[in-house]
Amino acid sequence: MKKIRLTGEQLITGPGALDALGSLEFTRAMIVTGGRSLFRNGTIDRAKALLEPHGAVEVLDGIGANPTRDQVERGLAAMRAFSPDLVVAMGGGSPIDAAKAMLLFYEWPALNFENVFSTPLPEKRTKTRFVAVPSTSGTASEVTHVTVITFPEISQKLAIKTEALRPDIAILDGEICLSLPAHIAAETGMDALTHAIECYTNRSKETFTDLLARGAIEGIFEWLPRSVAAGDLESRQRMHEYACMAGMAFSNAGLGMVHGISHAFSAFYNTAHGLANAVILPYVLDYNRQDPWVAGELDRLSAALGGDVVEKVRALSHEVGIPACLRDAGIPEADFLRDEAQLIAGAMLGSTKVNPIPMTPETIAPIVRAAYYGS
Ligand SMILES: [Fe+2]
Repeated sequence: MKKIRLTGEQLITGPGALDALGSLEFTRAMIVTGGRSLFRNGTIDRAKALLEPHGAVEVLDGIGANPTRDQVERGLAAMRAFSPDLVVAMGGGSPIDAAKAMLLFYEWPALNFENVFSTPLPEKRTKTRFVAVPSTSGTASEVTHVTVITFPEISQKLAIKTEALRPDIAILDGEICLSLPAHIAAETGMDALTHAIECYTNRSKETFTDLLARGAIEGIFEWLPRSVAAGDLESRQRMHEYACMAGMAFSNAGLGMVHGISHAFSAFYNTAHGLANAVILPYVLDYNRQDPWVAGELDRLSAALGGDVVEKVRALSHEVGIPACLRDAGIPEADFLRDEAQLIAGAMLGSTKVNPIPMTPETIAPIVRAAYYGS
């Protein structure tokens, strides 16, 4: 038996979907967002204009990529001071993930980073509604029950999972993705492809997640090149929806070793999550393919795509400007050699535990090296 959950209460999608903010009821709304891009393209002003007729609105900005424990704790203090009954997380996966962790500690003040990994977590928020408006098409944090926080002091990225983290409403508005730079569209789109393929080759999948993952894979192969090259509304909206489908799939079936290895590199070098995944994905597929079940699933994908899926992943990566290895992504060799043992230890954590082939430090080491050196 398996319980499947695809979204919170509502998924609102299509160009102009942001207008749904104008029908929310609340007293105090806090917008949690990242850098300057959503200010520059007018999205934050538009959101404020939609919300302000209904109550007080405050903006908490400046959440960076790979959000850290410190950023969450600073935001939590601001959230406690403002005391919102509605939180609207807007931006890439980072501000949405940071807002999730803040919300958890805001709703349950006895929880903190000291005990959150050793305590059974509550599942139902009672004082705060939570809306997520992604501006990138990758993490699908808008529909998942997961947040990933970086702990620089131990060079690790750790996931917190509970239903309380799943947004009540997800808004997929391709219009706010129009100003997304091409390289961010490429990296986040490859993150979504990684979610879909890791889910598709995870033994926990069943019929529903199989279909969602396969649909996302086919859609991303069809629409990501145009989303990167042209960035028009149709391709950006399509990528938003396929990335979300991939999230629905992997949050029910799990991922695999690509995310385990990429989290280790991101924790050490702040490598963009989607970029790291994109580079690592073909090396892991080459390895996992020795498993007959994985080989059969990849053959099914290859038949649907009209060519070998691993070669198609490499070609798509190249087409959208992803480097072939992590050395070419700018991580200095001296740093890699200094940190290699710790990177391997870090790569064994997280989703590597649900890789279709069980891994050991000895078997994962050559894959980490191959992803770094490109051979
Ligand atoms: Fe990811």
